[in-house]
Amino acid sequence: MPSAHRSEVLSATGSAPGKVILCGEHSVVYGQPAIAVPVSDLRAQAQITADAPGRGLLLVAVDLGETVTLRAAPAGHPLATIARLTLAEIGAAAPDAMLTLHSDLPIAAGLGSGAAVSVAIARALAAFLGCELTVDTVSALAYKVEKIHHGTPSGIDNTVVAWERPVYFVKGSPPEVFSIATPFHLVIADSGLPSSTHAIVARVRRRRDVDPSRFAAPFKRMGELARQARIAIEGGDLPLLGALLNENHALLAKLDVSSPGLDRLVAAARAAGAWGAKLTGAGVGGNIIALVPCDAATRVEHALRAAGAVHVWHTTIEEQSQGRLNANDR
Ligand code: MEV
Repeated sequence: MPSAHRSEVLSATGSAPGKVILCGEHSVVYGQPAIAVPVSDLRAQAQITADAPGRGLLLVAVDLGETVTLRAAPAGHPLATIARLTLAEIGAAAPDAMLTLHSDLPIAAGLGSGAAVSVAIARALAAFLGCELTVDTVSALAYKVEKIHHGTPSGIDNTVVAWERPVYFVKGSPPEVFSIATPFHLVIADSGLPSSTHAIVARVRRRRDVDPSRFAAPFKRMGELARQARIAIEGGDLPLLGALLNENHALLAKLDVSSPGLDRLVAAARAAGAWGAKLTGAGVGGNIIALVPCDAATRVEHALRAAGAVHVWHTTIEEQSQGRLNANDR
């Protein structure tokens, strides 16, 4: 439960990072382990400022050019839903305030934009109302929104985004954190093609229902890859981690969640010196990640742009990126 003392302030902020899945998307929905890491430089940011009495809560999504009052927003509106869930959790009425949302994250691109937006709004609103929510509570609120919009989410997106640290995740179990022996560099490249998590997860489910045997072995192997990837990260064996990412991409492609555009980016990254590359998130469109030796990062970026990437980002995953939150935050 939120902490008891509550006093409204005049303004407050909340933010949350994007995420990438290193190993185990889709198979994680069916109980296999997966590994996800935060992308701390790409964030959703919410700012909330007191407004004239009687106005209610105004939600302004700057990047979407959308403004809506909480009172008028229809049921299921994603921004209004997380605001309503947060207010219900705190036991507070909507304040007279304006909540402004900015996000660096591309929408429907496998980088956790939806979860980051939910977590940023929940944090800003709670802080504005003078209330501290634990990381687990914020994650659980974001999960409820994910369920409305993504059907049958595993919970990995809201977990890694709320915790902002690398997680080894098994659906229904508390996330496990683990050590990173050697920092590693990822290049993230956006295909520019849409990736609807809801539609793609639903399609995989339909096909699996029709032909379970086609999915059983690949999903099991993906779980094994996630276990091995954790060991490779804990041991600092980055070439091995790259090979595991490559195998994970091949399995996802076999299950028809890759596409020619994603395969082209993956091939370009490998040819330019990446240890490994794969699609990340639900697939079909969205982003790929490439694990690269530092001296190959620029070369890989150029190769990805030449192969059609519409955006390229770099991020380093290291032990200290686990530091922002600690176990007491639970
Ligand atoms: C989406 O980021 C990852 C998927 O595995 C769906 C999920 O885990 O909810 C495709």
